[in-house]
Amino acid sequence: MTKLSVNINKIATIRNARGGNIPDVQQAAINCEQYGAEGITVHPRPDQRHITYKDVELLRPLITTEFNIEGNPTPEFIELVLKHKPHQVTLVPDEPGQLTSDHGWNTIRYKDFLRSIIKQFKEAGIRTSIFVDPDIEMVKHALDTGTNRIELYTESYACSFQTNKSAAIEPFIKAAEVANSIGLGINAGHDLNLDNLAFFIKEIPMVQEVSIGHALIADALYFGLNNTIQMYRKQLIQY
Ligand code: PXP
Repeated sequence: MTKLSVNINKIATIRNARGGNIPDVQQAAINCEQYGAEGITVHPRPDQRHITYKDVELLRPLITTEFNIEGNPTPEFIELVLKHKPHQVTLVPDEPGQLTSDHGWNTIRYKDFLRSIIKQFKEAGIRTSIFVDPDIEMVKHALDTGTNRIELYTESYACSFQTNKSAAIEPFIKAAEVANSIGLGINAGHDLNLDNLAFFIKEIPMVQEVSIGHALIADALYFGLNNTIQMYRKQLIQY
């Protein structure tokens, strides 16, 4: 079954709006796991405006499920990941100061760059995933980087879901079939929510993990974190 990794960046964003420690990011991670999250994702950006490098250090010993650190592999990020050795690292080509991730890797142009970084992480025993658009060429070339998995960037699916969900999912099905046929594991994330998640997983059941932050934390304002995590996990059940 597809695992739910909860991205807790938004909790850090609320905390950082005031300074201090409300809400408590470490406690939130513990609670997410208690309520059924099968992983915790953090995305420390270079300006540390959400999750900070200190958060990563404090969270690492607390996580009992799967810890996924995602981000652009700057020298500082690589050092952070190698120091704290999460179960998985997800490499994302986001620029400093970027509002949120908005594109996947060009796995042809950055093949050598990715390959050398991925090698370091794999030697440290860390599973690797790279963020890619649902583009068959990019998926095929991801294999040569040595990555264990790809994370399909689902924003385009989420944007078109309401108007034409069959058309919206089509490139993702094709990309996932290619990834599967060449032995790459598949994660997915970005803008997944309670409306669009179940259809995505029904159509692409081989997705191993989704990482969800923005919509899930927003839903928790209305339903509470415990209920919300149950609701998202229900979307992942295949009947
Ligand atoms: N995957 C990656 C690589 C991301 O950068 C993000 C956002 O930080 C997500 C997944 C989660 O996206 P969302 O917050 O829209 O659920």
